[in-house]
Amino acid sequence: MTHPWPLFDLRVRTARLELRLPSDEDLLALLNVAHAGIHDPDTMPFGFAWTDLQGLEFDLGFLKFFWGARASWTLSAWQLPLAVILRDQPIGIQEVRASGFLERRTVETGSWLGSTWQRQGFGTEMRAAVLHLSFEGLGAMAAISAALEGNEASRRVSEKLGYRPNGIEFVAPRGHAVKQDRYLLSREDWRPDQWSVQIEHLETCRGMFGLSPSTKAAAE
Ligand SMILES: CC(C)(COP(=O)(O)OP(=O)(O)OC[C@H]1O[C@@H](n2cnc3c(N)ncnc32)[C@H](O)[C@@H]1OP(=O)(O)O)[C@@H](O)C(=O)NCCC(=O)NCCS
Repeated sequence: MTHPWPLFDLRVRTARLELRLPSDEDLLALLNVAHAGIHDPDTMPFGFAWTDLQGLEFDLGFLKFFWGARASWTLSAWQLPLAVILRDQPIGIQEVRASGFLERRTVETGSWLGSTWQRQGFGTEMRAAVLHLSFEGLGAMAAISAALEGNEASRRVSEKLGYRPNGIEFVAPRGHAVKQDRYLLSREDWRPDQWSVQIEHLETCRGMFGLSPSTKAAAE
């Protein structure tokens, strides 16, 4: 039976990973992964310094982010933080979000992995998964990413997947300005054949993105 919130049925699979909307049980597992550490506390890779929060404030903020993403979903602004699952275990988050997607056909991404699972190619693989979902599944024209100065891992993931530099901006996660490099991957630069990605149950989710049934499904 289709879930009344169809995004819970959506699956994006790569060679090693499954991406899915996290259940509340998945969120508790992910909270443990986050507690175990995502980055060196001396650096801040995120534009919003959520990993600086402590104790109850951290836990409540973490859960509210995901519940907020569910509750605030609209056609004009949505965010889809997908749990990254390795052998049945949540190891991180790969988010894809958009505002005005139907008009702009542009998505933005953000991600993190528990430290244990970094530098094993998963970050590239999970970004490729949501790029496939965006370009092949949803008909995106462009994907945007940003990396704070010094975040070599994030920068390399974007470079490896064909993004081009797209200017700079300044953000202040810890209250002082830090340079952030912006990257853009256009549909023309996206190389779908490089990655084997399968999407399941997107058809029942298309309405949530304001998309009509795919021509393939409509013909069936
Ligand atoms: C960003 C992140 C998701 C990337 O995932 P990952 O699994 O570590 O990345 P990959 O293993 O796919 O590596 C991608 C490239 O980055 C390089 N890289 C990874 N970690 C690196 C590091 N700490 N320093 C330098 N290069 C690094 C890899 O060598 C690889 O490049 P190569 O193929 O040229 O060797 C992960 O590092 C992470 O969660 N970091 C902390 C949170 C964060 O920075 N999130 C992004 C905020 S924009």
